[in-house]
Amino acid sequence: MKVVNTIRELDEILVTERQNGAQTGFVPTMGALHEGHLSLVEQCVAENDICVVSIFVNPTQFNDQNDLATYPRTLEEDCRMLEEKGCDLVFAPSEEEMYPEPDTRVFALGRVAEVMEGAHRPGHFNGVAQIVSKLFAIVKPDRAYFGEKDFQQIAVIREMARQLGFPARIIACPIRRESDGLAMSSRNVRLTPTQRQNAPVIAKTLKESTTFVAGKSVEEVKSFVINTINQVPEMEVEYFEIVDGNSLESITDWSETDFPVGCITVYCGPVRLIDNIKY
Ligand code: PAF
Repeated sequence: MKVVNTIRELDEILVTERQNGAQTGFVPTMGALHEGHLSLVEQCVAENDICVVSIFVNPTQFNDQNDLATYPRTLEEDCRMLEEKGCDLVFAPSEEEMYPEPDTRVFALGRVAEVMEGAHRPGHFNGVAQIVSKLFAIVKPDRAYFGEKDFQQIAVIREMARQLGFPARIIACPIRRESDGLAMSSRNVRLTPTQRQNAPVIAKTLKESTTFVAGKSVEEVKSFVINTINQVPEMEVEYFEIVDGNSLESITDWSETDFPVGCITVYCGPVRLIDNIKY
């Protein structure tokens, strides 16, 4: 496995690989890798001739400077795990390398970028579109892999790729969970022991809510989820929406879609956790 820090080095390797007919798979990450990321890497390695993983904590997608400052950075350990999984190439650029000048592009990604995370984290998806479009332009992947924990992010990236004409196939991979159900996230390490003990209530409640979809209205299911989680100390639901999984528009009646997805964000102390479930 090779670790490169500059666009030029990465490009030199990938140009040669492409000339030899290699199919390139790409897993963009912000590092602090866990089993969730590694499952994307495994799939990427299995389905492509060359697997590229980027590690870059992208400042333009953080609307909270404290979240950016405390985001875990574990490059050495990340590289060790990537090598074990058979990754070929790690791209770990500096901020100056990715943003030699401020990126002033403003994306118009429509409703999928405006609802839920878009409404609660102003500028977040524009930052994601800025960095992923830069990375796609550099790596030119045939396939790119994203985890479904960030369900909305996948829709936003699909729209960005469509608008800019990137040919990469965007591949959505299932959420990986801890044994107690908590969705794997780089932010989980910031939970105190008590918060960590309580956090699985999110997944547990979402799962439980799927069992009474047949008998309850959308509003009743939403109230059940929000009230159950809010009763747990230090936990506060920021939003819980049941949406059409393609348009991401909220539904008020189950008959409005055959692909209902519940998307939730919960503050567990200061740590913002997200999760989702298909009904
Ligand atoms: O999902 C993430 O880790 C980030 O949003 C991504 C896609 C790597 C862009 O910085």
